[in-house]
Amino acid sequence: MKVFVSAALVALVTCAIGLPFAPEVVKFSIFEEEEVVIRRPRLQSYTYKNCGSPDKELFNLISLNLSPDPLSFPGPLSVNFSGQIKSTVDAPLKAVVYLGKKVGSTWIKIPCIGQIGSCTYDDLCSSLSNIQCPPEFVSAGVPCKCPFKAGSYKLPTVNFDVGAAVFPPGDYHGQANLTYNNALVGCYEIYVTFA
Ligand SMILES: *[C@@H]1O[C@H](CO)[C@@H](O)[C@H](O)[C@H]1NC(C)=O
Ligand SMILES: *[C@@H]1O[C@H](CO)[C@@H](O)[C@H](O)[C@H]1NC(C)=O
Repeated sequence: MKVFVSAALVALVTCAIGLPFAPEVVKFSIFEEEEVVIRRPRLQSYTYKNCGSPDKELFNLISLNLSPDPLSFPGPLSVNFSGQIKSTVDAPLKAVVYLGKKVGSTWIKIPCIGQIGSCTYDDLCSSLSNIQCPPEFVSAGVPCKCPFKAGSYKLPTVNFDVGAAVFPPGDYHGQANLTYNNALVGCYEIYVTFA
């Protein structure tokens, strides 16, 4: 199974895992899990695409794999990816994220609540500055905070334990545009179904 990455991996995957942005939201979800999430939501399908111009973007995702297939939360999540950063990306690194959920036949924009949803992150570098990079990132030389130096990166499979269901079942559409100064770092779009 393939998806995208980029600092959008940062924006979306770690956001879903609950990592750097809002520990309080994670706690909240874990807390809520007992009463609300009775069955484990499963990631039934997903597709992704680049929504910008890869030749003009500073980051190119070469491959991303998530497993097991299907994913269900809470539960394990394994990730590996490879990608290339064409020139160093540093502050100011900005992300504009759109997150929508399908209701009937229309897409409803999910508002930004507790740093999750359709949010604008004006300064991702400072949001990331306090996180501890997973040891697998460190040993593979893959940066998880600024500066993201030019180079080719390959993350071998890393296993996470996702403790809580972040999303209720449904169809989701996410889009993340990342810019460094005014240069496009990457635009990625993902469609995900949780059952
Ligand atoms: C991201 O950029 C694309 C192409 O420039 C644009 O169509 C889209 O509306 C942008 N999305 C967000 C969430 O800003
Ligand atoms: C990446 O993950 C996929 C799916 O889990 C696996 O088949 C593949 O061997 C992994 N690649 C590397 C380089 O670890």
